[in-house]
Amino acid sequence: MTRKKRMRLSKKGIGILTFLVVIVVAVGIFVGWNFVETNTYASLGYSKEAIQTIRKEHLGDQIKEIGENATLNTVLKSAAFQKDNFDFYQKIGNYTYTDLADAINRVKDKGYNEEEADAILRSGDDASLTHFLSLDYQQEVMDFLQFDYAKLENMERYYDYQQRELTSDEDTVTYVNIGLDKDFYTDYEVIHDYSVTVLANKYNQLSENYVPDDLVDIPEEYCLNPDQKMTVEARDAFIEMAKKAKEDGLNLQIRSSYRTYEDQEAIYNDYKEMYGERRADSIAARPGFSEHQTGLVIDIATSQTSIFSQTEEYRWMKDHAYLYGFIQRYPEGKSDITGYNNEAWHYRYVGVDIATAMRDTDLTYDEYYVRYLDK
Ligand code: DAL
Ligand code: ZN
Repeated sequence: MTRKKRMRLSKKGIGILTFLVVIVVAVGIFVGWNFVETNTYASLGYSKEAIQTIRKEHLGDQIKEIGENATLNTVLKSAAFQKDNFDFYQKIGNYTYTDLADAINRVKDKGYNEEEADAILRSGDDASLTHFLSLDYQQEVMDFLQFDYAKLENMERYYDYQQRELTSDEDTVTYVNIGLDKDFYTDYEVIHDYSVTVLANKYNQLSENYVPDDLVDIPEEYCLNPDQKMTVEARDAFIEMAKKAKEDGLNLQIRSSYRTYEDQEAIYNDYKEMYGERRADSIAARPGFSEHQTGLVIDIATSQTSIFSQTEEYRWMKDHAYLYGFIQRYPEGKSDITGYNNEAWHYRYVGVDIATAMRDTDLTYDEYYVRYLDK
């Protein structure tokens, strides 16, 4: 019979073993806890780099209380992150800057509070922010930046324009965004987005070569002059509108619609020769600046365009044009904004949604565009 040899541990051995077990359990608990913590932050949307900062700076409790916050996730990744600014960061939107943490730090250092900083950062970008922060602290900053279409790059122009024109804050921002603080045709952008909402005016120039790629003929029965064209969407909307007008016993006839750059050049030059530049500019657009070149416009007439405002058709258009996506583009009393005299006959297709939204406002398309469409 053999006796099983039993291993015997000395007291010292037991001590070492116990110690090792304790270490293993402790490490296990630590790793497990770490894992749970990391998962908690990750499930709140924090990235790996952000989580590293959360742990390093012992911000876990605060993060758990705040929960998801896109701005914190962005700034926690940045080398510019400052623990002292933690509360400030979380009240700012997650705006696009090369280094949002650095941008927020700089705005805060200049003395702006959270609400002001949020409005400043929302309205600017890297370049305009840097310029803005080179100015002294601006006490009335929220007067203009309360409007979400205010642009930080225009802040000095807002102050100057309001001092000069005594306009309301809202009008100041709107008018300067249009460009009205500068003379017509002195400072303009070249248009790149030729969608149905395109804004062509004395501050936004169509490319000389621009020709809409979906121009279609307008049936002759609707035209006073031959060879009238519009973009397909605008043409279809016009025909639908003209049919409805006909049902109501009225006759919408097109005198002018799409015009090439060269057509417009000839028209403008004729006016200029007849009346001089100043008057010509209040009647016709300079070539490249006419909405007619977009293919989204019609001049409606019955027999004589200039008295269209006295016709039943004009009254009908006032009530019905929006239902088909058309707006009167150069209304009475708005020539300081549009740059043109009242044109009762000139209608612009913008689509039903925008035409309907504009109906309850007293805004020209120039104003509506800079407030709601200029993103
Ligand atoms: N008559 C309008 C303003 C144009 O020439 O486009
Ligand atoms: Zn016109």
